[in-house]
Amino acid sequence: MEQPKAIYDGRPEPYSMRLRIEPMELEDVAEVRSIEEASFTLPWPRNAYRREIVENKLARYLVIRDVDAISDAATDARVTAANQMRPRPFPLSLLPSVNKGPEQQWRYGKPTLVAYGGLWLMVDEAHITTIASRPDVRGQYIGELMLTALIDVAIGLAARWVTLEVRVSNSLARSLYKKYSFRSTGIRPRYYSDNHEDALVMWSEDVNVAGFQRMFQKRIASLRHRHSWTTTYPETGGFLDDSARD
Ligand SMILES: CC(C)(COP(=O)(O)OP(=O)(O)OC[C@H]1O[C@@H](n2cnc3c(N)ncnc32)[C@H](O)[C@@H]1OP(=O)(O)O)[C@@H](O)C(=O)NCCC(=O)NCCS
Repeated sequence: MEQPKAIYDGRPEPYSMRLRIEPMELEDVAEVRSIEEASFTLPWPRNAYRREIVENKLARYLVIRDVDAISDAATDARVTAANQMRPRPFPLSLLPSVNKGPEQQWRYGKPTLVAYGGLWLMVDEAHITTIASRPDVRGQYIGELMLTALIDVAIGLAARWVTLEVRVSNSLARSLYKKYSFRSTGIRPRYYSDNHEDALVMWSEDVNVAGFQRMFQKRIASLRHRHSWTTTYPETGGFLDDSARD
């Protein structure tokens, strides 16, 4: 008789990914929005990310890509590129070619975006404004890696504390934040306009103290046992770099 599949406390079976942590660029916004729409009942307005990336000097946004997966958007672009390269039969060859331009070319071969997140630096406080992982990779510690990347950026920007708001009912996210020392310090009543749910305000410990950094390093070491990654983000505390390996 076939053995039942291993059960991991109701979470999917873990697998390893090769990832890239990068600054969010304008070209990423379509993929970000598709994760956002699948994740939040109140997605940001269409041009919010554009404004955040281009105009908000206090904001930093990151994405994580799965190097071994090509997104549908990238596959479409590859097909388009291949079609453009194939000589067209007469009489189609007489028609001007329909060049979709650089907007599609950048996508060629771009790996799938699996998580995104962002923060605002307000003096020595980093306010996490958003964080989400792609629904089909949830439970694979990708959301957690994004949180560590945001904290690492906060440390790189000389923040002392990291703070965020979370729906009272979002126990999954709350347990992730708790794992990184966040504690709730207050409630914003009826904060969310869709169902008037309260927001819990959570704060990390001082991210510069040795105790926090020991815990942080330990958690990153355990993420390294699950996934490998490179990071191209310039302003980091260095905890996610290869050189920081223990
Ligand atoms: C919240 C979110 C980013 C977490 O990312 P994820 O990829 O699903 O979670 P991870 O696999 O990285 O899990 C890491 C930790 O999160 C918590 N967690 C994840 N899945 C959980 C589950 N099913 N039950 C309880 N805790 C869970 C645990 O603390 C876990 O660590 P542990 O397994 O060592 O206990 C993701 O679920 C998401 O995008 N949700 C929708 C958007 C959202 O709610 N964003 C937060 C707004 S404040």
